Amino acid sequence: MVIIAASSIKRTHVNLTLRQLKIFDAVARHLSFTQASKELHLTQPAVSMQVKQLEEEVGLPLFEQVGKKVFLTDAGEEMQRYAGSVLTTLAEVSLVFDEMRGLERGRLRIAVASTANYFVPQLLASFCQRYPNVQVSLDVTNRKRLLEALSANETDLVIMGKPPTNMDLVAESFMDNPLVVIAPPSHPLAGARDIPLKRLQEETFLVREKGSGTRSAMERFFVEHGVSLSSTMEMSSSEAIKQGVEAGLGFGLLSLHTLEMELTLKRLVILDVHELPILRKWYIMHRAGKRLSAVAQSFKHFVLTESSAILNLPRLGSRAKA
Ligand code: PGA
Repeated sequence: MVIIAASSIKRTHVNLTLRQLKIFDAVARHLSFTQASKELHLTQPAVSMQVKQLEEEVGLPLFEQVGKKVFLTDAGEEMQRYAGSVLTTLAEVSLVFDEMRGLERGRLRIAVASTANYFVPQLLASFCQRYPNVQVSLDVTNRKRLLEALSANETDLVIMGKPPTNMDLVAESFMDNPLVVIAPPSHPLAGARDIPLKRLQEETFLVREKGSGTRSAMERFFVEHGVSLSSTMEMSSSEAIKQGVEAGLGFGLLSLHTLEMELTLKRLVILDVHELPILRKWYIMHRAGKRLSAVAQSFKHFVLTESSAILNLPRLGSRAKA
């Protein structure tokens, strides 16, 4: 029998930093050093270095790499549980202070779909005029990344299209979001009425990147209506698509709210296609059960009650059906 004297058992304390914990948490959520470095706006070597130092501190590997895939080890899973609860507690602490500072000096973190960036700054400008000391951080990104931000509790409120069904959310719609087909004014279909949907199959379409809400709404709509596009070109922003359509690369299908300038300057036209526009809505949402700060509650109320009076967005004319 081996007897270990009580005095020889040494308790080790893990000495880790909050920065290491945040970096670890991002890698563990994405199971990717590259994705984590993008989210944190750090270089990949900086992320790997912090994780390595954390592993040395813990004395155990937290990740293992099999082929190109990253997995959490058992120790990594334990660390993820504790890191999650530490980071959530810290987020709650700042919320309590925000509430104490009230509307006068609170902070508002919002994340919006890239398409919503065409009107959210106007809403923020009016809100900040009313509450000039509120500190705002605005993250503009695509739908996929917004869902990640919601699930990681990284944001107070999100503005985007259709809320996902696999997440417990409180989502309220505040405005229509029609998706329309655009073409250059010189295209032969530019003045045509009631263009059959299937006619679009003959055209090249410039489409948003995978992960975009506009892209998934478009794909769903075309599948439901038996339209199969023969030629597509992927572009990662509405701006690139508008420029491409103007230059004659093909048609695009975008939110009407991205088109104000091009329609006013007559650089693009909306085609009058049968069954279109796709009728979508804009939603403001947060995780169910999330404790919203006074500022976040007030911004949500502001969007729901005042956005239609503040925003002056393009409307569909008589040629394209509402
Ligand atoms: P997107 O989102 O900018 O990712 O296309 C728009 C939406 O959610 O409808």
